[in-house]
Amino acid sequence: MSGGKAGVLLMAALVALVAGCSKDAPLDHGPMVPATTPLQLDVPAYFPQVDIPADNPLTVEGVALGRRLYYDTLLSLHGPRQGKACASCHHQDRAFTVPSPGTGVLSHANLAWSTHFLWDGRVSGKLEDVMRFEVEDFFQVDVQVLRSHPEYPGLFRKALGTSEITSGDVAKALAQWVRRLTSSNSRFDRYLRYEGILSAQELSGMNLFFTEAGDCFHCHGLPLMTDNAFHNIGLDSVFTGANAGRFAVTGNPADLGAFKTPTLRNIALTAPYMHDGRFQTLEQVMDFYSGGVHRSPSLDPIMTKPGTGITIGMSPQQKADLVAFLHSLTDEQFITDPALGSPF
Ligand code: HEC
Ligand code: HEC
Repeated sequence: MSGGKAGVLLMAALVALVAGCSKDAPLDHGPMVPATTPLQLDVPAYFPQVDIPADNPLTVEGVALGRRLYYDTLLSLHGPRQGKACASCHHQDRAFTVPSPGTGVLSHANLAWSTHFLWDGRVSGKLEDVMRFEVEDFFQVDVQVLRSHPEYPGLFRKALGTSEITSGDVAKALAQWVRRLTSSNSRFDRYLRYEGILSAQELSGMNLFFTEAGDCFHCHGLPLMTDNAFHNIGLDSVFTGANAGRFAVTGNPADLGAFKTPTLRNIALTAPYMHDGRFQTLEQVMDFYSGGVHRSPSLDPIMTKPGTGITIGMSPQQKADLVAFLHSLTDEQFITDPALGSPF
């Protein structure tokens, strides 16, 4: 460790020396390759490889900057969300969803593996792209506020090699931060790693979940507990306004009423449920899956038993077992880790 640190310091000194000697070095921008410290995502071997863009590698400095921006109300000083930080709405103890009645909000847990964002996937690409949307459209961040701040230019220079600070730079730092928000230490994960056990009821729920009996795994599969795809699960049979879902983006009638599959990690903490927050409890969600599915031409065929049109139909015991299993997906470390909380 100390050898590595010394190496980084030496690198920093060399880079500064070279930049200082060169006549062409821009006056204000400092070294273009900052002496950053690479950061590996700490996830189990059964997680998929994460795709990190070459022009925004994960670093200790970048994540720290993104974290500070996420918790800083300065970001909204002049925008339409005045007085808000991202974290004013997205709460760590709710897996970074927004505790607001009548709004379902997707968790930030493991968004590093997502390629479509928001319920209808209207922002697609990388985390950098959805962060640009948040910074430029939702917050309309006034970068001048950050440029004239006593600390931010130095922090941007250290993390991204620029103190110019464009909205793209702000998005890059936020993307690194959100990429760092991995959740993989629930009791269910510890069970998978042979580090812990589940109760008999949780195991029964798990078996329903991962077999044709409950059929949940087709869409909420391991290990992310989402297939990151879009499905119409039959919440409605008529689709207008915000219920049109993915159709609003693609114009394809097969996408009517289809929404992004939410991760079920930390699901016990993230009520209300579904894109419009129509269910308050997991019991209500189980009642829906058991017998409340509405038929329509775009209904996902998985939602009915093949050829019969009959939904799965679960006994009260089975529903309770599934709910018990869903509770084992809560990651206490993720929601209490001080490193993911406010730096202020
Ligand atoms: C006023 C409350 C509020 C603030 C402040 C806020 N958000 Fe959100 N955010 C929401 C709501 C509500 C949604 C769900 C919108 C939807 O899905 O249509 C959301 C959705 C998101 C999503 C989409 C998640 C996904 O998987 O699709 C991301 C990412 C996000 N916000 C990041 C941020 C960032 C970064 C900031 C700060 C720049 C921020 N939010 C500030 C309320 C807020
Ligand atoms: C065909 C794919 C599919 C299957 C099968 C499926 N789900 Fe879902 N699930 C989804 C989608 C898509 C949503 C979001 C729907 C919406 O909001 O319109 C969702 C939402 C949920 C939610 C609410 C999540 C939140 O953040 O609001 C829970 C809980 C849930 N599903 C549990 C289950 C369980 C348990 C099963 C098995 C009985 C199951 N799902 C089967 C695709 C599926």
